Parts: sequence; C-alpha cells; structure tokens
Amino acid sequence: MAMMWAGRFSKEVDSKVNAFNSSISFDGRMYGHDIRGSIAHAEMLGKCGIISEEDSAALVEELKKVLQDIDDGKIQLDMNAEDIHMFIESVLTERLGEVGKRLHTARSRNDQVALDIRLYLRDEIDEIISLIKKLINVLCDTAEKHTDTIMPGYTHLQRAQPITFGHHLMAYAQMLLRDIGRLEDSAKRMNQCPLGSGALAGTTYPIDRDMTAELLGFDCAMINSLDGVSDRDFCIELASAISIVMMHLSRFSEEIIMWCSWEFKFIELDDAFATGSSIMPQKKNPDISELVRGKCARVIGDNMTLLTMMKGLPLAYNKDMQEDKEAIFDAVDNVKLCLSTFIPMLETMSVYKENMRNAAARGFINATDCADYLVKKGMAFRDAYKITGGLVALCIEKNTDLEHLALEDYKSRSELFDGDVYRAIALDTCVNMRSSKGGPSPDSVKKQIEYTRAALKKV
Ligand code: ARG
Repeated sequence: MAMMWAGRFSKEVDSKVNAFNSSISFDGRMYGHDIRGSIAHAEMLGKCGIISEEDSAALVEELKKVLQDIDDGKIQLDMNAEDIHMFIESVLTERLGEVGKRLHTARSRNDQVALDIRLYLRDEIDEIISLIKKLINVLCDTAEKHTDTIMPGYTHLQRAQPITFGHHLMAYAQMLLRDIGRLEDSAKRMNQCPLGSGALAGTTYPIDRDMTAELLGFDCAMINSLDGVSDRDFCIELASAISIVMMHLSRFSEEIIMWCSWEFKFIELDDAFATGSSIMPQKKNPDISELVRGKCARVIGDNMTLLTMMKGLPLAYNKDMQEDKEAIFDAVDNVKLCLSTFIPMLETMSVYKENMRNAAARGFINATDCADYLVKKGMAFRDAYKITGGLVALCIEKNTDLEHLALEDYKSRSELFDGDVYRAIALDTCVNMRSSKGGPSPDSVKKQIEYTRAALKKV
C-alpha cells in the first residue's frame, strides 16, 4: 500500500516489513484519544490563523464524526495501516480531501504518539485507582466484622504473636493506600502536554502550545520539545507503580492460597471463585489467587521491558519506542483484570474464626506476654525472656502449653509468678492489651478502619 510519506520513496513497502512495522493492532485502542488530540490541534491551528477558521471547523466536525463512526462500529480499523495516527488521518482525508491534509500542519507523529499515550494512560490511572478504592472498602468492611477475630501473626511463617484478622486485613489496606499515592503521583507528572514538540525541534509556525495543553486538560505544556518526544518516564513510572500494586496482590494471594489449604483452613473461597480438578474430585483450588500471583511476574516483566527499551536510546524518538505500548497496556490491562476479580473473591469468602483462634492457641504465641508479665513485676526483659524460654521447653517436655502449665512449674522458675499469670497470658488479654497505635487490639483496628475510610474520601 502507498504510505502517506511515500513522496521520497520509489517503491512500496514490502508487505512483511509493513506487517512488522505496523502498530495499529495494539495502538488502535487509542483512537478516541488520538482524535481528541487532533481536535484540540485543529482548533488551535484555526485560532492561531495557521489554517482558516472554516477548515479548522470542518476538521473538528469531521473528526467528531469519525470518532462516532468508530464507536458505532461503522468504520473498522484497517490492520494494514501503519498505526492509528495514520489511519485516522487517512479516513479524514478520504472524507474531506484537501482540508483533511491540513490537519498535520505543525505536528509530527512523534508528538502525537507521546500525547496519545499520556491521554490514554491518564484515563486508565483513574480506573485503576477507583478499583483499588473498591478493594480498600471491601477490606475495611471485612475488617470491621473481624476486629476481635483472633488469629496467629507470623514471622518466618512461624506463629509469633496473636493478632486479629481485622488487623491483618488493614495492613493490606495501608499498602493499597500507598499504591493510590504512587499512582496519583505518576499521574501528576504525566499531566504535561508534549503536543507542539513537533518531530523534535518544535516548529516555525506560530502555534499556541498553552492553548492545546489547556484544551486537553493538562497542567502545562512540556518545557522542552526534545524531551517532549523522547520521554517515556511516565510509562516506566506507571509500570513500576503497577508492579508494586501487583506485588501487593501477589503477597495477598499467597496468603489466601495458604489460608484455604487444609493445613490452615482459615478461610474458604466461594464456589464461584474457585475451581475443581479434572481428576481429583475432592479438590477446590484457589486458581484466581494463583493466577494473580503469576500475573505479577509478567507485569514486573513489562516494567523491565520499558526500562531496558529506553536505557540506551539517544534522544529523540526512535522506533524502539513503539514497543512501549504493548508493555504498558499489558501492565494496565492485567492490574485491572486482577483487581476486578480479586474484589468479589474477597467479598464472598467465608472466614473460619474458630480455626484461626485454634491456631493462635497453639505454638506458644503468648510467650512474649509471659515474659512481659515478669517485666511488669520488676524483672529485666532479657532475664524474663530466658526464663520464659525455659518454660516453653518445659511445656514441650510435658506436652502442654503455657495456659495449662501448673503454677508450681511457673514458681519453680521465678518467685514472681502468681495465679494472675493465667489471665495475663490468655489469648484475649494478649490481643486486647496490644492497643498501641497501629496494633491488633479491636479498638486499635477500629481506629485504623476509621483512618482508612477518611483517607479514601480524600482520594
Ligand atoms: N507508531 C509509532 C509509535 O507507536 C508512532 C510514531 C512514529 N513516528 C515515526 N517517526 N516513525 O511509536
């Protein structure tokens, strides 16, 4: 096919080369943003007297029609086109003839593509943030039901100290709040307009970059035209913010996978959010969580693709940069997919409080509290730690736990022990007393939920 830039060439592009070179199969999704950018550009050209007001109005009107026609499926994207920018321009030129050919005055595909990706990702960031907000809301609602549901807290995956399920869930809520912060931050830096950078060196036409920046809802026009077309930092920043979201979802997934194993049985996923085995009739598999954990890998890969693609590129545009889109779109698509499946999965899961409590009741999870008991009676912590360690060894020897160890056994190790030790090391006491700011006690968790809901209102 003949290209728009065919003037300099004496042959048509080899069909294999055309297929290799073309990006419309993946940048076609930006048609709406491309048209929006072109409308702003056409308006500006008219206002600045670079094209006539009539031509400008005709371009704007026709661009709106092309948008409508693509939306309605009346025009199909031509997969032989080089990219979405060329495709839209060719449709416009087919329809408007001479006037259509004026649209690309004082513009290059280099600033056009940089603009389109920013416009596209800006919308996507809004969607990702609203999904994360939904997830945090589900976490707050679930945590509210479990402010006093005792479970073991772990370090090294060994039972460590008792916490509440609400406390555990609110930890994820904080991680996700930070994710929103990172996404907002990347959106802020992304919100500068590259249009008018031209191919790299601006233009000799009297364009008004501030006008197009404002029409398109940007905070300002980018300061340097070379940077305007060379920069893909915003893709890398977004991919890295998304990678962190995915890493969080992946850690959560790992816990869900463990929690619904028979070894834990802390939760059970709803039948609609689990899958069976083709051979083992008893199986109920947490495929969704596993897939989220798996997809985290590809998103990290997308981030790496972008960094590696950019690391050796001289300024300004190089065709390598066409590879940005598949990577960043993949990251965006997958995080949205994961979030929208994860949310209802969490909403519908059953929580087995008894199993959580039983697990917390074993494993000497109250040993720290036993040591703290001695400290509160005047002993130095290191001595109390040692004595409690000895008591744990004694329990293991006697096949019992600290709650059931005889008072004589306690007293044999320290005279400071008395009958009140049993109350001090009871699970509920251990949790309720952990009321320090940010701690697992029901009151403390309620405050965390309150804080989180208030923070969400500000997003
Ligand atoms: N399809 C190209 C891309 O996605 C558009 C920019 C092309 N510019 C150029 N000079 N070849 O990066």
